[in-house]
Amino acid sequence: MPDSTVRRTTWAASRPVSRRDVLRLGGGALAIGALAACTPGGDASPSPGASGTPSWTPPAEPMRLPDGFVLGAATSAFQVEGSTTADGRGASIWDTFAAQPGNVRGGATGDPAADHYRRWEQDVDLMTGLGLDGYRFSVAWPRIQPTGSGPVNRAGVDFYRRLVDRLLERGVEPAVTLYHWDLPQPLQDRGGWAARDTAARFADYAAVVFDALRDVPGPWLTINEPKTTAYVGYGSGYHAPGVSDVDQMIAAVHHQLLGHGLAVEAFRASGASGRVGIALNLQPVYAAGPGAQDAAVRADAVENRLFLDPVLRGTYPDDAIGDEPGQIRADPGVLDALVQDGDLATVSAPLDVLAIQYYGVTGVDVSGQNVQLYPTSDAPWQQLHPEGMYETLVRVRDDYPGVPPLVITENGIPDRTSEGTTDDAERVEFLRAHLQQVARAVDAGVDVRAYYAWSLLDNFEWAEGLDQRWGLVHVDFETQERTPKNSARWYADVVAQRAVPPA
Ligand code: FCB
Repeated sequence: MPDSTVRRTTWAASRPVSRRDVLRLGGGALAIGALAACTPGGDASPSPGASGTPSWTPPAEPMRLPDGFVLGAATSAFQVEGSTTADGRGASIWDTFAAQPGNVRGGATGDPAADHYRRWEQDVDLMTGLGLDGYRFSVAWPRIQPTGSGPVNRAGVDFYRRLVDRLLERGVEPAVTLYHWDLPQPLQDRGGWAARDTAARFADYAAVVFDALRDVPGPWLTINEPKTTAYVGYGSGYHAPGVSDVDQMIAAVHHQLLGHGLAVEAFRASGASGRVGIALNLQPVYAAGPGAQDAAVRADAVENRLFLDPVLRGTYPDDAIGDEPGQIRADPGVLDALVQDGDLATVSAPLDVLAIQYYGVTGVDVSGQNVQLYPTSDAPWQQLHPEGMYETLVRVRDDYPGVPPLVITENGIPDRTSEGTTDDAERVEFLRAHLQQVARAVDAGVDVRAYYAWSLLDNFEWAEGLDQRWGLVHVDFETQERTPKNSARWYADVVAQRAVPPA
C-alpha cells in the first residue's frame, strides 16, 4: 500500500481531486491521478470514441408524476445535527476523524453543523412550509448506543421518537436511514467494518430502532452507500475512519452487506410496519476511447454490480477484483475468504424497496483510469449527465427481474460558491433535468415511488466541511438562520403541482 503520508499530502494538495477518486487501486497503490482529467467546466460532449447514452429532448409540456409519488428532501445525522456530546451521545468515527487537523477542509467538525438537534422543530416547519411529502433522515447510532453495543441511551431514542411523531402529525412521511457513516468509535477500535462482528452489532442496534419507531410507514434504509464507506473510508482514507488498505476495503464491502441482511432479518422479526431496503449509489460507466470496453465493464462491476448482485441475486460478480484494467487490484481470494456459508442468503433477503442515489456518470479508459466525459459540478467527482438517471433506473429494472419498487433517496448538486447563495439557478436546472428523467422512467414503466433531493439544508459535507453547500435551504452557519433558496421555491411548486415544468 502507498505510504499514507504521501497519500494524504497528495489528496490534501490536489483540491479538485476528491472523494470518489478512489476506485482504481492500481498495483497495490492508489491511482491518485485517476481523475486528473476531471477539471470543473470541461468539455460538455463525450470524448471521441466514448460510449454513452444519447441525449434526450424533454417535452415542451410539464411532465406529470403519478399520484402518491413522494417528493421529499434528505439529510443525515452527522451532517446536520451538531450537539455531538449532548444527552449521552457517544463519539463516532467522524468525530475522531474531523478532530484531526488536515482531514476536513477548514477544520470543520460535526459541531454545530446545521444545529438540527436543537432546531428540529423549526426544520419540520420548514418542510411543511415547502409542502414536502417526505423527509429522509438518519439515526445516529452513537446516540442510541453510545459505545456501539450494549445499553440503550433513552435520550437518544426519544429525540428520534419526537421527530417522527411531529412528522407524522404534519403529514410528512419519514424515511429512516439506520447507518449514514457515523460508526461508534469503540467499534472502529475493534476493527470497524473490516471486522465481521460489526455486522452483528449493527443488527442489534437496528432492532432497537425498529422497536422504537415501529410505526414508521415509509421506507427504512439499512445502510447508506456501502460503496462510499468501503472505497473512501477504508480504501483511499479520504473519509473516516481514514484507513487505506485494500483488504480492509473489501472486508468493509462484505461486512456492510452482511450487516444489511442481518438488519433486514431483524426488521422482519420486529413486526415493524413499513418497507425495508438499502441505499446504493449507482452510476453508469462509459467506455472512453478505443479499446476501453472491457475495462468499462469491469469498472461497472466495481461501481455497481459488486453491490447490486449480492443484494438482489445472492452472488458476487467475478469480474470486480483482480489485476485487469478497471478492477480493484487485489486477490479475488480475499473476498472469497470472507464469505461464510449462508452469508449470501442473508445478504439477499427479499426487500420491499431498493433505494438508488444518483449523482452522475463516469468514463473509463483502456487502462481503467477514470476519465471526464461530461462537465462536473463544483464537486469534481460529479460528472453531470441527467440521462444517466433514466439509464440507471431502466437498467436496474431490466437486469434484476423481480427488483422491488425503487425510491431515489439522493440526487443533488452543490452551490457554485462556498460562501453560499440563495440564487441557485444551476440547482433548479439540475433538479428539473433529473426529475424529467425520473418522470421519463416512470412513463417507461419503471416502478419508482419516491424522490428525495439532497439536501434539505446546507450542511457538513464530510471532508469538504462547510465549504460545499448542497441545500435547498441556505444555512448561515454563524447565526444558523435558514433561508430557502430559489430552488426550494421551485421544488415546492413541483410538489404542489405534482409535475415537472419545462425549462
Ligand atoms: C452522498 C452522501 C451524502 C452527501 C452527498 C453529497 O454520497 O450520501 O451524505 O454527502 O453525497
